Amino acid sequence: MSSLPQVPPTRIDFSPEDRAWITARISEVLETGRLTLGPYGEQFEAELSKSMAVKHAVVVNSGTASLEIMLRAMNITGKDVLVPANTFFATAAAVISAGGTPVLMDTDIATLSTSLVEIERRITPNTVGIMIVHIAGFVTAEMPAIAAFAKKKGIWLMEDAAHAQGSTLDGKHAGTFGLAGSFSFYPTKVMTSAEGGVIVTDDDRMAEEARLYRDQGKAGFLTNTHIRMGYNWRMSEPHAIIGLRHLQNFPAMIKARRRIAERYDAALGDGAAGLKPFAVPKGCVYNGYKYVAMLPDGVDRKTVKAWLRENHGVNCSGEVYEVPLHKNEVLKHLDPGDLTQSEIACNRQICLPLFASMTDAQADQVIAGVRAAKAAGVL
Ligand SMILES: Cc1ncc(COP(=O)(O)O)c(C=O)c1O
Repeated sequence: MSSLPQVPPTRIDFSPEDRAWITARISEVLETGRLTLGPYGEQFEAELSKSMAVKHAVVVNSGTASLEIMLRAMNITGKDVLVPANTFFATAAAVISAGGTPVLMDTDIATLSTSLVEIERRITPNTVGIMIVHIAGFVTAEMPAIAAFAKKKGIWLMEDAAHAQGSTLDGKHAGTFGLAGSFSFYPTKVMTSAEGGVIVTDDDRMAEEARLYRDQGKAGFLTNTHIRMGYNWRMSEPHAIIGLRHLQNFPAMIKARRRIAERYDAALGDGAAGLKPFAVPKGCVYNGYKYVAMLPDGVDRKTVKAWLRENHGVNCSGEVYEVPLHKNEVLKHLDPGDLTQSEIACNRQICLPLFASMTDAQADQVIAGVRAAKAAGVL
């Protein structure tokens, strides 16, 4: 182990003031007993919808729940949904849980997203919708074209924007290009409510369905009449309080992330140090969720990560993703057999440490580590 100070892969920041603000309000809801589906959840929803310039925000207890609710609201039983091969397990698992079949699409290696050409290649008469995932916080410049294509075909477009809160394309927020968008407030995301998620939509019916589904499909808060196959997907008030506080800090947090990403770009962007960082798509202002770079062909990621950790105290963050969906035991039956770009994107990427409270000195330690890896022939 290096004697250098360690740069962690990520960090979740709640200042002493944040903690005091949160605990005061948690104490208050413990006192009142209003512990779930209460005013803090409503305030969180109002502030989330305002921050993304969208009509409705419905908070739930995870980003997996928000995905499944959106899909259930569209009644996908027996239908196909186009899903990227390079995404988190939950994007596809939610389709299966909601009764549909995920059809995997290959990766557009330039943006880590899905190209319109690939969507056109995979669509069939059984396709009812497209789920786009904004990997690393990048929003592909093709989003308006993808939305127009979905409209033309009479299918829906929804977004798993778990990585992309605060990212925009030509000023429009990730998660607002189609019928609905899903976000996650899991601790490693750009902001957190400990656990949590949200559905954002301009569609009144979708918002109403989401509220039904998240509370056991009940016709109303105080009734026991169930009109949908819902579940307990409610967000508790303590979670909403934590999320509200992070949302207040959110603009500053993503600004700080972007600043570090720009520092990496300035030092490593030309590829001379062996890594080839991904360029933010044209028109996209990204939230700095992940700093993803491609390793030279044939270089083993595990070796590079171990070398950076042991020799330079650099702990890389988790990939997005280490393996594409069809390489997971439980999803291998979904492999259509030609997802080569996804395999390359997953095999060759590495994610440098990136978090809001990262210092310039920590970023420079990472940059020095990468340069040293190149000089040592590790890269
Ligand atoms: C792309 C993507 N989709 C869905 C999820 C699921 O969110 P959660 O962990 O809040 O259920 C995550 C994060 O964990 C994610 O990264």
